[in-house]
Amino acid sequence: MTTPRLAVLISGRGRNLQAILDAVADGRIRAAMACVVSNRAEAAGLERARRAGVPAAVVCPADFPDRDRFEQELTRVLESHGTTLVALAGFMRVLGPAFIARWRHRMVNIHPSLLPRHRGLHTHRRVLEAGDAEHGASVHFVTEELDGGPVVIQGRFSVQPDDDEHSLAQRAMNDIELKIYPQALAWLARGDLRATADGVEFKGRALAAPLTLGDLEPEFR
Ligand code: GRF
Repeated sequence: MTTPRLAVLISGRGRNLQAILDAVADGRIRAAMACVVSNRAEAAGLERARRAGVPAAVVCPADFPDRDRFEQELTRVLESHGTTLVALAGFMRVLGPAFIARWRHRMVNIHPSLLPRHRGLHTHRRVLEAGDAEHGASVHFVTEELDGGPVVIQGRFSVQPDDDEHSLAQRAMNDIELKIYPQALAWLARGDLRATADGVEFKGRALAAPLTLGDLEPEFR
């Protein structure tokens, strides 16, 4: 198998990006970093990419007449770096059908909720409003349905009575996102994880339910 070339799309701080860069650098994710692309020039994550010696590009939607042209440019940049896998890591743009079709089965996203609960924005606030007993984060393959593609792995924790939006966001990030995303990408890069027409295959078998924190390999815990 040729070494996959991973691109990460960001819009903001890039804490997930950093975890991915670290896992590529120390060999836990067997992929080469193709590039990091942000839709915002101010994204702090761009600096993380530069520090790691990874090509960092900005493709700004305001520079294009419509979403299609913006996304064509995004694909052009990704292809120019030989990208074979795409990880959305806090990329705050809804992607259109042509882009999604181009990267079908090769693009994953991290979402801060226990999907299918709380698709979309403000997940931590909505968990509190709904009085949910549990919260967490999910990695899923990207399909046309927003935050609706097949879930690969999900980590969960109990909501405590004194939790607020901030504490939930912190636990979701530190205890779940930063662990499950590098692990999912490691499996994907190794060929252990595959999207199929009906869902997800893990190590050659159809995945009946998402993987969990208990499935993390020791180096990802
Ligand atoms: C994460 O919570 C991610 O799940 C969400 O946006 C946030 C990005 O944070 N989609 P960062 O840029 O990785 O620090």
